[in-house]
Amino acid sequence: FMCRPFLICILYLFKSATCQKEVKVRQGENAILECYGPSDATEIMLRWTKPDLQTDNYVIYLKDGHFQKDLQNDLFKGRVELKDSKWMTNGNFSVILQNVTLNDSGTYECYAAYNNQPVQILNSTSLKVEEQGDCFLVVDVCF
Ligand SMILES: *[C@@H]1O[C@H](CO)[C@@H](O)[C@H](O)[C@H]1NC(C)=O
Ligand SMILES: *[C@@H]1O[C@H](CO)[C@@H](O)[C@H](O)[C@H]1NC(C)=O
Ligand SMILES: *[C@@H]1O[C@H](CO)[C@@H](O)[C@H](O)[C@H]1NC(C)=O
Ligand SMILES: *[C@@H]1O[C@H](CO)[C@@H](O)[C@H](O)[C@H]1NC(C)=O
Repeated sequence: FMCRPFLICILYLFKSATCQKEVKVRQGENAILECYGPSDATEIMLRWTKPDLQTDNYVIYLKDGHFQKDLQNDLFKGRVELKDSKWMTNGNFSVILQNVTLNDSGTYECYAAYNNQPVQILNSTSLKVEEQGDCFLVVDVCF
C-alpha cells in the first residue's frame, strides 16, 4: 500500500469501509462486481450491463449456463470472469473484471431471471478506478 502520510491512509481506509456499493480499484487490478441471487435458483439468465456505454450489448450475458459471446461488448471481451463455474447453483452472480482501466469507471448493473420469474435488477455497483499513486489522490471521494 503506497500511502503517505499515515493519517491520510487511515482516513482513506475508513471512508472505503463506509462507502457501500462503491468498489475502488487501481488501474491494472481486478475488480469484483458483486451480485447475489437465491442459492436455489435454476434456469438462470444473468446479464451485467454498463448503462453509460449506451449500447445494446453487455458486460457479460449468460443464458441456460451458456456464455453468449455475441452479446458481449468488445470492451469486455476476454476480461470478465465468473470465478465459480457452479455459479448457477450457488446464487453467486458476481463477476471479476480483469485488468481495469480508467475507462472502466462507472456504474454496473446486475440483472437476472431465475425460477421462471421475470427479469429483475439485483444490484448496482459504482466502480471507481484510480490511477497508480498515493492516497492523496483519493481522499476526496465519498464525503
Ligand atoms: C451489491 O453489491 C455490493 C458491493 O458492490 C455488495 O456488497 C452487496 O452484497 C451486493 N448485494 C447483493 C444483494 O447482491
Ligand atoms: C462470490 O464470487 C466472488 C467472485 O468470484 C467472490 O469474490 C465472493 O467472495 C463470492 N461470494 C461469496 C459469498 O462466496
Ligand atoms: C492490461 O491492460 C493494459 C492496457 O490496456 C495492457 O497494456 C496490459 O497488457 C494488460 N495486462 C494484462 C495482464 O492483461
Ligand atoms: C477511453 O474513453 C475515452 C473517452 O470515452 C476514449 O476516447 C478512449 O478511446 C477510451 N480508451 C480506451 C482504451 O478504451
